[in-house]
Amino acid sequence: MSYFDKNKRDLPWRDTNDPFRIWLSEIILQQTRVDQGMKFYNNFIQEFDTIFDLAKANEQKVLKLWQGLGYYSRARNLHFTAQYIATELNGVFPSNFIELKKLKGVGDYTAAAIASIVYKEAVPAVDGNMFRVFARYFNIEDDISSPKTKKIFWDLGLEIIDQKRPGDFNQAVMDLGATICTPKLPKCDICPLNESCEALRLNKVLELPVKLKKTKVSNRFLHFIVIENDDKIALSKRIGNDVWKNLYTFPKIETETDLLDKGWVLEEGLENKLSFISEEKHILSHQNLFIKYWKLNVSLKDINHFIQDVDFEMIALNDLDQYPLPKPIEKFINKYYLD
Ligand code: ADE
Repeated sequence: MSYFDKNKRDLPWRDTNDPFRIWLSEIILQQTRVDQGMKFYNNFIQEFDTIFDLAKANEQKVLKLWQGLGYYSRARNLHFTAQYIATELNGVFPSNFIELKKLKGVGDYTAAAIASIVYKEAVPAVDGNMFRVFARYFNIEDDISSPKTKKIFWDLGLEIIDQKRPGDFNQAVMDLGATICTPKLPKCDICPLNESCEALRLNKVLELPVKLKKTKVSNRFLHFIVIENDDKIALSKRIGNDVWKNLYTFPKIETETDLLDKGWVLEEGLENKLSFISEEKHILSHQNLFIKYWKLNVSLKDINHFIQDVDFEMIALNDLDQYPLPKPIEKFINKYYLD
């Protein structure tokens, strides 16, 4: 702990006890590393000083601020929970682990982080960093992809967490995991725990933690149809059960292979108006997206015709700052339209 006091990272959410700020930072940091997350955190706080401000915002604005972080259900849950706390709980955060866990989007890790940092409840925040640091320090060989293993780490965490400073204990583990006890090139030579680390003594630091199950990844083949007219482009709001729900993409046709062999463009007999622009592979945590971009060269009259059949809006390039876009779409537009 004295090592943490001397070396802790100076982070914007570390000089506050405001549960709103701690909650926001923890949700963002599940998504990205601290250096990247800081920018998003600061942007959010600049827009929303309190949970009421976030609750009042429209979802599109929240998604726009989240743009680039990925895993957009986190942003939707963040907004939902802000509204719930603002209206149902009069803006007052639940103040213990059990109650925090009842919030949408708040699981064991986030509840423990908030409870320990804000309310000094001695509960361990079990995340990837904690798995790695504990597995190495105590030489725990259990498979961390098995749900049963989490309890082993949780129990051990409960036993050794600093009762007086549980929030600092949890954050010290996070800092150690992020800066020294890293997955690939751990800096054991400068680690404050190197004299008592079991994995280091047994020369098996890189073998731990054990993770047997690979995440199941599916392949998807997406064809985006680019339609432009007069400094406007066609965008379509993704609805339904989609990783990009409520974000905007070009009108999309999804196929079983990378061949564009179905969809409204072909049904309308427009294949001779279609030209291939580019392709890319975009990797999400559970999906590989094989994306092709096609330009549809149609007249304004035809565009109007299609608006009746396919759900899209013509949006001015100048107004794009109000529309949340998935990363590949943002990159594509920057490359072809905004540079
Ligand atoms: N990663 C997740 N939460 C964190 C925190 N509070 N401090 C540093 N890194 C983190």
